[in-house]
Amino acid sequence: MSLLEIHDLSVAYGDLYAVRGVSFAVEEGAVFVLLGANGAGKTSILRAISGLVAARGGRIALDGRDLAGLVPNQVARAGIAHVPEGRRVFPTLTVDDNLSVSFLKERSKDTLGAALDAVYQLFPRLAERRKQLGGTLSGGEQQMLAIGRGLMNFPKLLMLDEPSLGLSPVLSELVFERLTAIRQLGTTILLVEQNATCLDLATGGIILANGRVALAGDRTRLEDSEFVRRAYLGV
Ligand SMILES: Nc1ncnc2c1ncn2[C@@H]1O[C@H](COP(=O)(O)OP(=O)(O)OP(=O)(O)O)[C@@H](O)[C@H]1O
Ligand SMILES: [Mg+2]
Repeated sequence: MSLLEIHDLSVAYGDLYAVRGVSFAVEEGAVFVLLGANGAGKTSILRAISGLVAARGGRIALDGRDLAGLVPNQVARAGIAHVPEGRRVFPTLTVDDNLSVSFLKERSKDTLGAALDAVYQLFPRLAERRKQLGGTLSGGEQQMLAIGRGLMNFPKLLMLDEPSLGLSPVLSELVFERLTAIRQLGTTILLVEQNATCLDLATGGIILANGRVALAGDRTRLEDSEFVRRAYLGV
């Protein structure tokens, strides 16, 4: 059984279908990427998984359990964390407090202090800024904080919506490298990106175009595809 199974998913806003008949499966331990251009439907898929928008059709299952009808905090409790597009840290809370308010006690095997330490170990830059307000962090630091907040949910599956957006190549690389570390610690990752350099850390994924799956496969298959070469690598 796959950790996450998406079968024939459709998402619509009024009459407009943003996602049509999308199916894919994320195996435990994977870094699964959802690549696609602006408006392809990437965020809509994550929002449907999180229960932020109701699916118009299809099935979403985690560990074989159907997530239909669950509200976002129930999805979080089931083991899915969603690091949203645009980071959304609390600007007037300190780094410490941003993380603490995300602590999901039901899923934690340890104390709040130990959970904070684990995040600070992954992101030493945040540790140095524990008392700094979220809104005063740089873009890269806010992204680290948003990821840290996701980890405070102790997810089986960590979903990230374009974490490299607006970051320099060096910082994007740092964020991607940390995702590899997070995966090695045992968290499965579903990564939404437009930036094809994320394929370096992917085990597999899909390319979305106009709300449909244009290509599915392992990393090599995606990297070698005409689609990625043309659309993303400019070659
Ligand atoms: N709340 C909404 N109401 C109406 N239409 C929406 C809504 N959210 C998204 N859409 C539309 O659905 C389509 C897919 O949007 P979505 O945000 O899922 O794309 P995306 O792949 O995440 O794009 P981007 O890379 O720009 O973030 C777009 O045409 C968008 O305009
Ligand atoms: Mg989006």
